[in-house]
Amino acid sequence: MTFNDNTVSVVIGGTSGIGAAVASALSQRPGRVEIASRATGLDIADAASVAAYFRKLGPIDHLIVTAGSAAPGGAVADVDLDAAKAAFDVKFWGSLVLAREAAKIMRLGGTITLTSGFLARRTVPGTFVKTAMNAALEATAKVLAKELAPLRVNVVSPGLTQTEAYAGMAGEARDAMFDRAASTLPARRLGRPEDIASGYLFAIDNPFVTGSVVDIDGGALIN
Ligand SMILES: NC(=O)c1ccc[n+]([C@@H]2O[C@H](COP(=O)([O-])OP(=O)(O)OC[C@H]3O[C@@H](n4cnc5c(N)ncnc54)[C@H](OP(=O)(O)O)[C@@H]3O)[C@@H](O)[C@H]2O)c1
Repeated sequence: MTFNDNTVSVVIGGTSGIGAAVASALSQRPGRVEIASRATGLDIADAASVAAYFRKLGPIDHLIVTAGSAAPGGAVADVDLDAAKAAFDVKFWGSLVLAREAAKIMRLGGTITLTSGFLARRTVPGTFVKTAMNAALEATAKVLAKELAPLRVNVVSPGLTQTEAYAGMAGEARDAMFDRAASTLPARRLGRPEDIASGYLFAIDNPFVTGSVVDIDGGALIN
């Protein structure tokens, strides 16, 4: 669907990182871009708040979800289960509730683009919460793409991307992780939010793309 002055795009997680880059790219187009996150008063782990948010918004055309980058690390044997469940409540269940509520008010030609991550399909000890959450999201998005057709549902799967998500890490450890990734990835660089944002635009713009997972990861999955 082409963008016009009535097009409404909603970016949940649009206050930071990849979501902010998607919102910025969409704001160059005709129409309106709504961004939301806890900073604007929406916690996607709260299903009632999500339903109220969409009721107030009225008809929309595109939903992009990038919210929920946090997940506890640790081996399966000793991970903090409460923290793991809380991460699922935000990213997995939150994304599904958003998709479900958005679909109720989405105009014909609309799209839903969710976000997973390269760990969905790369086996790295100590990261199973991200693996499980993102793999579940990719699988469920494919089911949604059939159930919600002709609305289109896709997933963008980023690799390591320099965003505010790593602001809480100690500077030295973060820089070492970034340097290691940049020197070993086939693309020999880290992702920038704009690199990943272009994947959401591709999923929105190409009318033949649905049920897809778009990997933008510098080659992490072939490394
Ligand atoms: N950056 C990477 O290396 C990387 C790699 C693989 C996958 N990903 C995935 O890409 C997506 C975006 O990551 P990012 O790096 O852009 O993260 P980010 O900079 O931390 O942004 C995350 C966004 O989610 C919002 N958010 C978090 N919890 C929320 C909640 N409960 N309700 C509503 N909004 C919430 C945050 O805003 P508030 O704090 O205001 O709520 C923020 O706008 C995530 O799904 C992440 O798992 C990222």
